[in-house]
Amino acid sequence: MLLFRETVPADWLPKIIGNLPAVLVDHAHLERKAATTALNLEKYRDLYSKVEELNAIAIEELQHFQLVLNILKRRGIPFRQSHPSAWISGLMRSVRTGQRQQVIDHLICCAFIEGRSCEKFQILSRNLKSLDPELGEFYASLVESEGNHYATYLLMARAIDDPETDRRLDFYLSLDAELIRQPNSLPMLH
Ligand SMILES: [Fe+2]
Ligand SMILES: [Fe+2]
Repeated sequence: MLLFRETVPADWLPKIIGNLPAVLVDHAHLERKAATTALNLEKYRDLYSKVEELNAIAIEELQHFQLVLNILKRRGIPFRQSHPSAWISGLMRSVRTGQRQQVIDHLICCAFIEGRSCEKFQILSRNLKSLDPELGEFYASLVESEGNHYATYLLMARAIDDPETDRRLDFYLSLDAELIRQPNSLPMLH
């Protein structure tokens, strides 16, 4: 797993545990966006050869989306709007334009979202085990998949341009550390 330069802030977990219905709605949108993001990456010339791999990720994310929707339904939580994530938009705002630069940056941002999800799902699986066993197990079941998505996106960037990926990783690791420290009182995964 990627060594992020900043740990998840200490106030994140209590905020999440105290607002599980809203967090599940946010999570549903996160999986929906992960599916569309995988498809969006197929627009890049450098990723045409990865179209089937990206389709497989999109299908998996869509399945995750449906699993979260099933939990919402069982718990009588309506699917509604969620808030945009300042952390995600902060990362995406730094994606440079121009084919080669853009695809590398976009893939790194996607890898970071998957990597942070993987990390946070691990925290949730540990901490929800006795509090909400169904959710604890659910989050544990997603860890491997999101970790694989993280690795896949990073490998795709490396296959396009390895030294440039290293340079941009350094930039994005600092940006992530800065953004994750920004206070956010909303019950959101990111
Ligand atoms: Fe997912
Ligand atoms: Fe994912």
